[in-house]
Amino acid sequence: MRAAFYRSFGDAAEVLEVGELDKPDPADGEVLVRIVVSAVNPTDWKARRGSRPMTFPFVIPNQDGSGVIEAVGPGVDEARVGQNVWVYFAASGRQYGTAAEYTVVPSDRAVPLPDGASMDLGASMGVPALTAHRALFWDGPVDGQTILVSGGAGAVGHYAIELAKDGGARVITTVSTAEKATLAAAAGADVVVNYRDSNAADQILDAAPGGVNRIVEVALGENMELDSAVLAPHGTIVTYAKTAHDPEVNVIKHMMGNHTLRFMMLYDAGTEAIAAGVAAITDCLERRVLTELPAHRFELSRIVAAHEACEARVVGKVLIDT
Ligand SMILES: NC(=O)c1ccc[n+]([C@@H]2O[C@H](COP(=O)([O-])OP(=O)(O)OC[C@H]3O[C@@H](n4cnc5c(N)ncnc54)[C@H](OP(=O)(O)O)[C@@H]3O)[C@@H](O)[C@H]2O)c1
Repeated sequence: MRAAFYRSFGDAAEVLEVGELDKPDPADGEVLVRIVVSAVNPTDWKARRGSRPMTFPFVIPNQDGSGVIEAVGPGVDEARVGQNVWVYFAASGRQYGTAAEYTVVPSDRAVPLPDGASMDLGASMGVPALTAHRALFWDGPVDGQTILVSGGAGAVGHYAIELAKDGGARVITTVSTAEKATLAAAAGADVVVNYRDSNAADQILDAAPGGVNRIVEVALGENMELDSAVLAPHGTIVTYAKTAHDPEVNVIKHMMGNHTLRFMMLYDAGTEAIAAGVAAITDCLERRVLTELPAHRFELSRIVAAHEACEARVVGKVLIDT
């Protein structure tokens, strides 16, 4: 099969190769998926740069994708052959990511894609939508709450807005440009604030005088002061990304507010949390609640450019046609 792979860590142009590899066979409990679209997330270029140890002689990158089940291993229902699926965690502790014509994954990591959901949308689910779901619902339903989604035009931010709105919350989000404000509003945010405005906290408090109940935070180091200013008593911040600066925490302010600060890592969130996310995302796909971000498409042969685009933080979703 045609595949992109790397044998050592480094810059995309230095370590990514495209060539022919043996098609993998599905083992017990696994399915073989003919990948149609592979998605690139920040986690994929971070892995390529060595965020986790390399335990295989080569690795095919990219966690997320979509495609069609072509074969099943022992113990998997034969009826799954021919099913359209979205794939998550393909390269999590595994060798065969989605940047190839085929991947093999445990059966539960290939989730039926409802009729009407495109392969692009399916490939966009995995890491971003599961992260958004976990960050948002870690402490239960959001019905009637006010949620602040930091960075609402990012992939995680986009799905956090859509899931929060679907869950009955009012959503305030932050962005840095007019283009991103348009995307965040299209996702359904009720209020969009430019976080670079000197009065960003006042704008948020004007929209939510009692403060926000939960914050889904992409840049805690940069936003700790803003978050502290707008978090309601008993509110929670869930932070899921590392940025240039670690935050300084105003202990007395958060203590007086009975605030909670949660740190989340999707890969280690636990099977129950992931299963809940998969079920909720499937339900949302069936009801057409989740939407695609603008796509930046690449052929598999241009995997280097695709990884570089994600690393350069293009606005929208980096997708690879396999
Ligand atoms: N812990 C986990 O399990 C987990 C899971 C998924 C993702 N992540 C990490 O989360 C990060 C985002 O992933 P993604 O796929 O959503 O990336 P993305 O699509 O590139 O989005 C990142 C967003 O963050 C925004 N942002 C950056 N600085 C900001 C600030 N100071 N305030 C508000 N927004 C800010 C950016 O907007 P501007 O350009 O306008 O600033 C951008 O829209 C990555 O670092 C990724 O590795 C971690």
